[in-house]
Amino acid sequence: MDRGYIYLNKKSFLHNLEVLKNLSRKELCLVVKANAYGHGLEWAVKNAKESGTKWFAVASVDEGIQVKKVYEESRVLLLAEPSKIQLENIKENDIDLTVYNESFIDTLIETGDEYSVHLKIDTGMHRLGCPPEKFYDLYKKIVDSDLNLLGICTHFPMADTDETETKKSIELFEKTISDIDSTNMLLHVDNSASTLYNLDNSFNMARVGIAAYGVQITAVENENELIPTMEIKTRISNLQVRKKGEAVSYGKAQRLSRDSIIATAPIGYGDGYPWNSFPDGKVIVNNQFCNLIGRVTMDQILFDVTDANVQIDDEVTVLGNSMDGKLNISVSDIAQWNETIEWEILTNMSKRLERVEVE
Ligand SMILES: Cc1ncc(COP(=O)(O)O)c(C=O)c1O
Repeated sequence: MDRGYIYLNKKSFLHNLEVLKNLSRKELCLVVKANAYGHGLEWAVKNAKESGTKWFAVASVDEGIQVKKVYEESRVLLLAEPSKIQLENIKENDIDLTVYNESFIDTLIETGDEYSVHLKIDTGMHRLGCPPEKFYDLYKKIVDSDLNLLGICTHFPMADTDETETKKSIELFEKTISDIDSTNMLLHVDNSASTLYNLDNSFNMARVGIAAYGVQITAVENENELIPTMEIKTRISNLQVRKKGEAVSYGKAQRLSRDSIIATAPIGYGDGYPWNSFPDGKVIVNNQFCNLIGRVTMDQILFDVTDANVQIDDEVTVLGNSMDGKLNISVSDIAQWNETIEWEILTNMSKRLERVEVE
């Protein structure tokens, strides 16, 4: 090992997809934007294909093309209206579009091409989507054109924190589409959090991201066992003895409260390990937690191994389980130290760390 590895557990990933499929009884659309939440888009698509997943959601045309390169017959859904200069690329690669603005829909119709579209309704997120009162006109416009209306969708703002708010969005969605015949359409409203409690089978597809990667995020108690798919391990690359009162790393942010042995490991914010992990963060070495003891730098972290009896090249768990399986550092732990969300931690994991598949 030179710097560090991101270990991707195929078995856990397939297990999570199976859990989500069985629980929701809906077709899964795996969200693979942002390098499949840091896991590697190619890896996620290849393995999801094995599990029978056919639909993939992306945030850019480029990501959509990458999916098609791995799995030509897949269905790819772009989650937002693209810039018009991408239309040729979209047609060539047979990518489905999420639409909600009349002017964009007009542009698509004017091309005379048969784009497949999913009409998005804003049921409370207030980010993208047509207002419910404009839905019917846009719907009519699309079905009266050469466009293929394959789906209708929405997105929840509080699925991970507020079940009641989510139910309100669902009711508004159902009311908005109640006057049309949606029999052969894909109706997709759920993300990971709501998939774990919205078991309404009037919808037939769920767009799942974070749960597929094993992070349990939900507004309700849930005993479905999702298994984290990512672990990050590196090694001790340097050891030094420092005196009480000294401080290590940029800013000399923390004085040592005792004579200490300080280890360095070659991972830093340049790899996606977030800067704000210090001062609350820790790593695991030799089945023991070791606290970060100085600021995270671009390429290195420093931690206190005074009580851990370690040597250069010993394995350091940055994310995941200790060797004896008794200790764990989760994505949620790292998010908490950094006062951020799990999605940001995963999607920031850079390409500098080599990804290695394990079973
Ligand atoms: C429109 C849309 N649908 C689904 C998802 C998946 O969300 P999650 O990772 O919480 O499952 C996202 C994520 O950002 C999204 O933007």
